[in-house]
Formats: sequence, C-alpha cells, structure tokens
Amino acid sequence: MAADARPTQARTDTHWQRFAVPYEFPVVFTEGVFDPENPALRDVLCRLEPAKRHRVVFFVDDGLNAGRTPLAEAIVKYAQRHADAMELACAPVVVPGGEKIKSDLHFVESIQQKLFDLHIDRHSYVIAVGGGAVLDAVGLVAATTHRGVRHIRIPTTVLAQNDSGVGVKNGVNLQGMKNFVGTFAPPFAVLNDLEFVMALPDRDKIAGMAEAVKVALIRMIRRCAELHMRQIGQGGDPFETGSARPLDYGHWSAHKLESLTRHHVRHGEAVALGMALDARYSVLAGLLAPGEDERICALLEYLGFDLWHPALAKSGASGEWVILDGLRDFQEHLGGELTITLLGGIGVGVEVHAIDRERMRQAMQWLKERAGG
Ligand SMILES: NC(=O)c1ccc[n+]([C@@H]2O[C@H](COP(=O)([O-])OP(=O)(O)OC[C@H]3O[C@@H](n4cnc5c(N)ncnc54)[C@H](O)[C@@H]3O)[C@@H](O)[C@H]2O)c1
Ligand SMILES: [Zn+2]
Repeated sequence: MAADARPTQARTDTHWQRFAVPYEFPVVFTEGVFDPENPALRDVLCRLEPAKRHRVVFFVDDGLNAGRTPLAEAIVKYAQRHADAMELACAPVVVPGGEKIKSDLHFVESIQQKLFDLHIDRHSYVIAVGGGAVLDAVGLVAATTHRGVRHIRIPTTVLAQNDSGVGVKNGVNLQGMKNFVGTFAPPFAVLNDLEFVMALPDRDKIAGMAEAVKVALIRMIRRCAELHMRQIGQGGDPFETGSARPLDYGHWSAHKLESLTRHHVRHGEAVALGMALDARYSVLAGLLAPGEDERICALLEYLGFDLWHPALAKSGASGEWVILDGLRDFQEHLGGELTITLLGGIGVGVEVHAIDRERMRQAMQWLKERAGG
C-alpha cells in the first residue's frame, strides 16, 4: 500500500483570484493615412477621450524616409492640421528598419530613453510606422514602459499588414535567437495604409506573400484567432499555455535559417523555404499525397521565391545539419512538447509531436536536388 505523504491538517487556505480581460482593437484599412484630410488616425487617437489633446510620439522606419516627401515631414503636417486633437511630443524619430533594430538591444534602449526623456505616460501614444521588425521593437518598448503605454501600429510592408501588424506579439532577438525576448500585448489600434505596400520594392512585396500562401495551406487563421482569444479570456492570462500553433507552419526552420544567414534571408523568404521543406516531409511521412509537395513548390516559385539556400546544408561540429537545431529552438520557444504543423492535404493542417531527423534530411536533400544543388 502506498502511503500518502501529504499532511492532512496543514493550515492552508487558498483563495482564487479570477478575472477576465476583454481585448478589442480596431484594424482600419485606409489609403493616405498621413493625408491631412484623412481622419482615420485622428479618430483612433480620440476613440476613448474625444475632447482631449493627446500626446503622441512617432517612431518611423528609415526605409520609408527615402521617398519623395519624407514621411517625417508629412507626419508633422498631419499633426499641425489636427492640433486640436494631438500634440507631437517631439519630431518623428527615425529608427533603423529591418532586422537590425531587433538584433541590437542598444536600439531598444534608446527608444526607451526617448520615452523617459519625453515623460511619455500610459495615456500617451507610441506610434510605430514601419515593417514588422520596427513594429516588433517599438511594440516591445511600448508594452514594457510603465508596464504598457498605448501603442498604435502603422505597418508598411505586405507581411506586416497581413500578419505581424494585426497580431498581439512583439519581440527582439537575443543570443542569436529570433524573438527570444518579447511580450504578448494587443495594440491600441492598427492602421493599414495600402499606399505603403504599393511603394515597396518587388523583393519585399514577394516576401510578404509567403504568409498568405501559408494561411491558404492551413486555412486556420479564424480558428487560430478563436483559440487564441479563448485562451487569453480564460483566467485573464495573456500568455499562451498550449504548444499548438498552426500559424507557425513552415516556421521552425525559417527562424533558424534567418539566424543562420544573419537575416540576409527575409522572414517571408525563409517561411517559403520552410513550407516547401515541411510539404516534402509531409509526403515522406505519408501524410500528404505525393505530388502535392511539387504543387506547393511550383506555386512558391511562380510567386518568385527561391526554394534552396546554401545555409540549409551547413553542418555543425557533430556533422549534423545545423538547421535541424531549429526543432529544439522551436520547442523551447513555445514550451511544452514539440508541436509541428504538417500538411494532411492542401488546406489541412496536421499536428505532429516528433520529427524523424533522417526523413527531414531526405526532405532537405530533395529540395537541394530540385534546385539543381
Ligand atoms: N510579432 C509578430 O507576430 C510577427 C509575426 C510575423 C513576423 N514578425 C517579424 O516581422 C519581421 C519582418 O517584417 P517585414 O517582413 O515587414 O520586414 P522588415 O521589417 O524586416 O523590413 C524589410 C525592409 O523594408 C523596409 N521597408 C519597410 N516598409 C517599407 C516601405 N513601405 N517601402 C520601402 N521599404 C520599406 C525596411 O526598412 C527594411 O529595410 C521579422 O522580424 C519577423 O520576425 C513578427
Ligand atoms: Zn511568419
């Protein structure tokens, strides 16, 4: 008979604290967000206190300031036209665009310093205008300064408008690991301006399409949003507790490839490769019908993606392909057991909890040979 080691008369009294936190934020689709006659931004700022003059600080991706009318100038004009509703705490601050801003904590610190110097409080607005990287870095600072300052995102790339900008996460890279430091923090509002993406170079337009292909392949965005919101709602816990993440299809290797190439490969480009790889693996694992992998690869190539990169075949000290370490990183990042979304068909995500390394090596070899490597 096993003795129960728990004392029965301990003087313990447990009270449960429970609350639900409803989240909602508007995602506004507009054109010419800084056209002085466009009220979209003004309306969003005044959503909660219509009579107040709101303090605002803008952080602007330096990739945007190259245009004909420097963006910072347009923002100042917009603020002047709406001076009754908003006040710039300082001139728009230009920050480095792309992965650079996420890979050096110095930038996070200097954004934080700015908010300190300007006495930005919880009712002021921190607005980020830029690609997913700038949104992630500025979003992290906004979420952690005073434990959360109102944050508005104005995404300017395809990927940021269809994926990261409308999500609830932020983060920066540390120890060479993507998004190692970050928080879950819903924004105050998101403004998607079509004019920004029309002005993008082809490479960036294409990179953003990978996430659209991903959603088509797993068709889970609505379901995922539902599950995510339910999780946040239960017990008011804003942290993900499950390890299943259907929208991370193709991402375990993508994040590793981005780090391995020191971000010369864009996120969307890496996701395209990761999806091709996991499609082939799905076939080898007997989940996906043979030939469907080729269809997916053909679509991605038609869109302009390269489906091989030499860094994929980089070996570590053990002789093993380094990219495979991405599986461990991925599990660590999400916590719990390894959960990888594969394909059971086009439009059907299937979760598995183990990856056969030899089979993954074969999938990689297939991609390499396909690309003539
Ligand atoms: N938080 C999330 O939920 C989430 C989700 C997916 C991706 N991400 C992150 O997003 C980042 C990738 O974002 P991205 O694909 O938007 O690229 P990016 O932010 O890296 O920007 C790419 C380049 O485009 C420039 N740029 C931005 N807007 C432009 C415009 N309108 N015209 C010309 N140039 C412009 C930038 O300066 C940069 O040089 C990655 O760090 C990724 O991890 C985050
Ligand atoms: Zn992604």
